Amino acid sequence: MQKFVYEYATKVYFGAGAVKKHLAQAVSGYGQNVMLAYGGGSVKKNGIYDEVKKILEDAGKKVFDFSGVMSNPTYAKVQEGAGMAKKENIDFILAVGGGSVIDCCKIVAAQAKTEEDLWEMEMTEHKFPTEVLPMGAIVTASGTGAEMNGGAVITNEEKVTKAGMAAAAPRFAILDPEYTLSVPRMQVISGAFDTLSHAMETYFGNSDQDNVSDDVALSIMRNTVVNMRRLLKDINDVQARGNLMWDSAMAENGILKVGRVTDFQAHQMEHQLGAYTDCNHGQGLAVIHPAYYRHIVKDAEEKFQRFGKEVFGVDSAQAGVEALADFIKECGLPTKMGELKSKVEITPEILRNVADTCNVIKCNPRELSRDEIYDLLMECM
Ligand code: NZQ
Ligand code: ZN
Repeated sequence: MQKFVYEYATKVYFGAGAVKKHLAQAVSGYGQNVMLAYGGGSVKKNGIYDEVKKILEDAGKKVFDFSGVMSNPTYAKVQEGAGMAKKENIDFILAVGGGSVIDCCKIVAAQAKTEEDLWEMEMTEHKFPTEVLPMGAIVTASGTGAEMNGGAVITNEEKVTKAGMAAAAPRFAILDPEYTLSVPRMQVISGAFDTLSHAMETYFGNSDQDNVSDDVALSIMRNTVVNMRRLLKDINDVQARGNLMWDSAMAENGILKVGRVTDFQAHQMEHQLGAYTDCNHGQGLAVIHPAYYRHIVKDAEEKFQRFGKEVFGVDSAQAGVEALADFIKECGLPTKMGELKSKVEITPEILRNVADTCNVIKCNPRELSRDEIYDLLMECM
């Protein structure tokens, strides 16, 4: 185990009816002006918006809508939100959505407190925000675990870069599995695959032998696969949705990463693929993961063997990787670049750009060269 300081910033309210039961009390300690942030309108169709707004107004809050946060939220949208937060003297931000709305709000919360350009501050000067507006999250689509950590993934369209930024974690997160029942099937499955990916990416980072995080990560992977299979049989299985919702938070709330390094090379490739194509995050990962693991399986054979055995019940390292590829097919997730919904045609030139601009991880089984990254991305064509 490496040295660490660990603190849990987010209070979690989990279960059916959790918003009705806890929201008024959860926001009671903050000021009157609340920014209610949401995406492209699903919350209006499924009634979540009305329920949340009424609770806030009954609690004496003045509500300001910040709507239209897109999937793969952009830095321009962050600036719009920060401008509004300053103009309306917002005291508290409530993100109601999936990872995109939550991430956007985390950075709005920081940008609202400074005149400095946050992207430049973090990416060029390597300084991080010290003051943020308080925020909370109501999760309507699970998978990213964004509700329980202080990172956010933002697309800077001008710079054609999708990157992780640091901000503050939500003060609270409300997780009601029933709120996820209206999420489209493919988003449910790709969100859950993102959770599986987070646990794999942590596990395949170099770690001490017998590290407890490896054991917990494998449990989360197993549980995610079991519950995804339940959803393949019955997409409305609310118990499985709930199990996956907590798997999602557990995989990205930092508990797996304590005292160790992680991999996240697949994420680095996918994020840049997202910058060029605006593809769905979980689906991009589904395409990339098997190809990446075929490249590194020999560099961490023991670990891959354990992964294969404990997650998919197969005997060898190679069989573990192929079992993952088969599971992706079983889920109906995309397996080739051409199956991803993209704003542009995915060409070898784009993949070259992705390979040339993504972050390269050094604490994984083997550091890849940019040419090898390009080769493996091309294997996904
Ligand atoms: O925009 P609306 O209309 O709300 O529709 C959304 C969106 O189209 C829909 N949706 C959400 N809740 C719904 C619903 N539809 C019906 N009923 C509901 N209850 O779902 C679609 C996808 O939402 P989005 O938030 O984009 O998905 P997800 O939760 O997968 O978030 C993806 C973003 O999170 C980042 C990804 O890179 C991507 O930008 N990530 C954030 C991480 C973090 N902060 O820790 C870690 C991840 O690795 C990831 O990078
Ligand atoms: Zn992810």
